[in-house]
This record gives sequence, C-alpha cells and structure tokens, in this order.
Amino acid sequence: MKSIFKLLMLSAALLVLPSLSNAQDRKIEQAIKHRKAAFTLMATYVNRMVQTVDGHRPFDAKQMAQDAKAVELLSKLPWEGFVEGSERGDTRAKDDIWFEDEKFKRYATDLQVKTIAVTSAAESGDLKRFGAAVGQMRDACNTCHKAFRKD
Ligand code: HEC
Repeated sequence: MKSIFKLLMLSAALLVLPSLSNAQDRKIEQAIKHRKAAFTLMATYVNRMVQTVDGHRPFDAKQMAQDAKAVELLSKLPWEGFVEGSERGDTRAKDDIWFEDEKFKRYATDLQVKTIAVTSAAESGDLKRFGAAVGQMRDACNTCHKAFRKD
C-alpha cells in the first residue's frame, strides 16, 4: 500500500515539474517582452528629438518637453524586466548585467538623470541647450548598450 502511495506521489511530482518550468519560462519571456517594449517606445521619442536637434523637424519646445517627460517615465520601466535567467531567450542582453549589477543600475540611474535634464532644457525653449542635453542622454543610452547589449 505504502509503495503505491509513494508511486502516486512521484508521478504527481513528475506531472507538476514540467508545468512549473513552463510557468518559469513564460515569466522570463514576458519579462523580456516588457523591457523591449519600454526600450522601443523610448527610442521612438528619442528619435523625434534627434531629428529636431538635427534640424529635420521644427523645434516645438512644448512638444519636446512632453516627449522628454514620456522618456522620463519610460526610463523607469525596462529594469523590472531584467529578471534572473532572462539572459536566455529572444534577447540581446548580456549576462554581465547580472554579474555587474551595480554598474548596470548606475547606468540606468544615469539615463534617468540625463532625461530629466532634457525635460528642463526643452522647457527653457533654448534649442542649443536642448541639443546638448539630448546628446548627453544619448551617450547614456550608448554607454549601457556598449557594456550590456550584444551587437
Ligand atoms: C542601463 C542600460 C541601458 C540603458 C541606459 C539603455 N538601454 Fe537600451 N537596451 C539595453 C539592453 C540590455 C537591451 C537589450 C534588451 C533585450 O534584448 O532583452 C536594450 C535594448 C534596446 C533596444 C532594442 C529593443 C528591442 O526590441 O530589441 C532599443 C531600441 C533601445 N535599447 C533603446 C534605448 C534608448 C533610446 C536608450 C536611451 C534613451 C536606451 N536604450 C538606454 C540597455 C540599456
């Protein structure tokens, strides 16, 4: 009787195991999608700013300040998607992110600081100041990509 019970427990455990790992995989997949979506949206606004700075769009200070505020918000969102194990899957994230956690967080914070500066530069209505701030923000993007994103 006892051994049948054990056998039943074992087969129950075997049934549960794969579904647990599927749930884990789904969580990771969701996390990767989440961070990529935030980055993609961020890039949309940043590209618009770069086009403005390059003279391909008229400088609408109010619009640019609104865009910068959107990036400010978006720059808070990707990081929760960098969950453990998510260096695997449909991603270009390097696993250094998890080994150099502090550096990654520092770069993320730097982006937020630089983005706030873009908002106030846009609000000032001074295109030159806006251009310089956008340049610094893009440096923050690139610095992190060089260190933590595969080409
Ligand atoms: C602290 C690090 C860091 C900063 C700062 C950063 N990124 Fe990224 N970015 C990454 C990583 C890591 C990936 C790879 C994500 C993945 O593939 O899972 C990425 C991916 C992307 C992608 C590709 C998304 C996709 O769908 O594959 C875009 C676009 C992007 N970043 C734009 C930006 C822009 C624009 C900025 C600055 C405004 C920025 N990033 C700032 C780390 C960063």
